Amino acid sequence: MSRQNSLIQTLQGLETEALAAIQAAPEGDALEALRISYLGRKEGRISGILRGLGDLSVEERPSVGAEANRVKEALQEALKAREAEVTSGADEAETSSEDLTLPARHRWRGGVHPVNQVIDDIWRIFQSMGFVRARGPEADTEWYNFLALNTPLDHPAADEQDTLYLKDSVLLRSHTSPVQVRTMEKHEPPIRILAPGMVYRRDSYDATHTPAFAQIEGLVVDEGITFVDLKATLAEFARRFWGEGAKVRFRPSFFPFTEPSAEVDVKRMITRKDGTRGESDWIEIMGAGMVDPNVLENVGYDAERYTGFAFGMGPARIAMLRYGVPDLRLFFQNDVRFLSQFSTGSPP
Ligand code: DAH
Repeated sequence: MSRQNSLIQTLQGLETEALAAIQAAPEGDALEALRISYLGRKEGRISGILRGLGDLSVEERPSVGAEANRVKEALQEALKAREAEVTSGADEAETSSEDLTLPARHRWRGGVHPVNQVIDDIWRIFQSMGFVRARGPEADTEWYNFLALNTPLDHPAADEQDTLYLKDSVLLRSHTSPVQVRTMEKHEPPIRILAPGMVYRRDSYDATHTPAFAQIEGLVVDEGITFVDLKATLAEFARRFWGEGAKVRFRPSFFPFTEPSAEVDVKRMITRKDGTRGESDWIEIMGAGMVDPNVLENVGYDAERYTGFAFGMGPARIAMLRYGVPDLRLFFQNDVRFLSQFSTGSPP
């Protein structure tokens, strides 16, 4: 092949290669690098060929020169066109311009879990009444979970049928009440704490039970605390949480760590399916009572001087009530179609 033809072939090969690279260049810097590598005055491969024209014979020169100039102009055109595309984002415009009525792409956004929303709301109410937050370990001992709470180990709750033991006397706490003991051990009265946390039981997994669930413990200890303080505090809580018209009712009950003990029911104002307003049924929401003097003595308090009240509730149950969710398991299956209904963020 003549020198002339081989140079023309090289030029056309460079052209094909450069055009493909230009079309694939993602942004301006990449385009500038391509411009330098093909058309740069010093190192550019096309410029090199143009510069070498002088070595060619007078007959060879015109056709090679003309082809080199054509390729140079074609690449300059392509660089300019691609530059315009990458700066205007034309790539995307090209695909979405097909149908502008298509919905925008969904952007996933996290939200606070409905049970945690309930815990947060309950916490804010008690916080405004002067309670402080307390916490304790989820792996705890028989002493804190049972014995210090006046619960003998032959009590059914302490049975291996009900409680998840880790080893010997170490267990996963079956309620948040041990936080009462741990707080009183460290602090002198007055005590006014709220302690939300996870608890664990050897329980079935069905519409109303899960083996791991949240509880919220409350404890108030001071001189002169009476059952009236307990009733007033919980009645105020119910009004703040469920709105004006919410009432609480105390039914006698038994817990080893409170005396007297009560189960607390709430009656709420609700809007029925037909739109009329009315009172709900009584629904049990928590256990409560006056702290048993034995518990106060177990932490070294003077039970002649101090009295207190305590309560414990299950926020998932309260979330079921609040949102009308019939099956507890829905909260824990992590199905975003369910959970996104409780999203507090602005819609995507
Ligand atoms: N610890 C109890 C439970 O898990 C709930 C409870 C009842 C807590 C009465 C209390 C209380 O503080 O006073 O079933």
